[in-house]
Amino acid sequence: MKIFIDSADLDEIRDVAAMGVVDGVTTNPSLVAKTGKPLKEVIVSICEIVEGPISAEVIATDYDGIVKEGRALAKLHENIVVKVPLIPEGLKAVRTLASDGIQTNVTLCFNATQALLAAKAGATYISPFVGRIDDIGGDGMDLIEQIVDIYENYDLETEVLTASIRHPLHVVQAAMLGAHVATIPHKVIHQVLKHPLTDSGLERFLADAKKIPS
Ligand code: E4P
Repeated sequence: MKIFIDSADLDEIRDVAAMGVVDGVTTNPSLVAKTGKPLKEVIVSICEIVEGPISAEVIATDYDGIVKEGRALAKLHENIVVKVPLIPEGLKAVRTLASDGIQTNVTLCFNATQALLAAKAGATYISPFVGRIDDIGGDGMDLIEQIVDIYENYDLETEVLTASIRHPLHVVQAAMLGAHVATIPHKVIHQVLKHPLTDSGLERFLADAKKIPS
């Protein structure tokens, strides 16, 4: 499973990129707004840090606007993936962008039929938001399982990008279900790495190391 970081914070992205564990980056307007910087500046900086797919989201909601913004974003760097909302105008734009050879990430997916249609439109990635489904009492991972099964049944090439991850268990479940990608917030990447037995074991080794004669 590929690991993306879900962030627009350059320090966070540099931190995980230095570990060599990050295959790509996803952003959204909320994450970019937190940086206080213009979208293009943030996206170009991210492309200089991570060599892999970098999702940048359009703001337009009409076909012409999405295609125009998507083409402009794609010109910023060869690794840009244009993130498009899962609405009818969005899917029309995905079809056009795909025929231009531009990669797309269809976002805000909350059911399997939405995912099926996004794949038929030519999406490169589909982003089901598991955490937001859990937040309202559903089971986001059921949706991942359904989409992975449907895509496999029909040999659809769209990659399942598990999004809205809230905790390490989501990462394990996404991998076990065969999701192609998990996009993980910086905080959760560090939670994944943390284990009390690793910390106590290291503490004991370091204490014992002081007893080794030089
Ligand atoms: C996906 O690409 C989105 O940026 C993100 O995962 C949304 O997560 P949230 O529900 O925590 O905002």
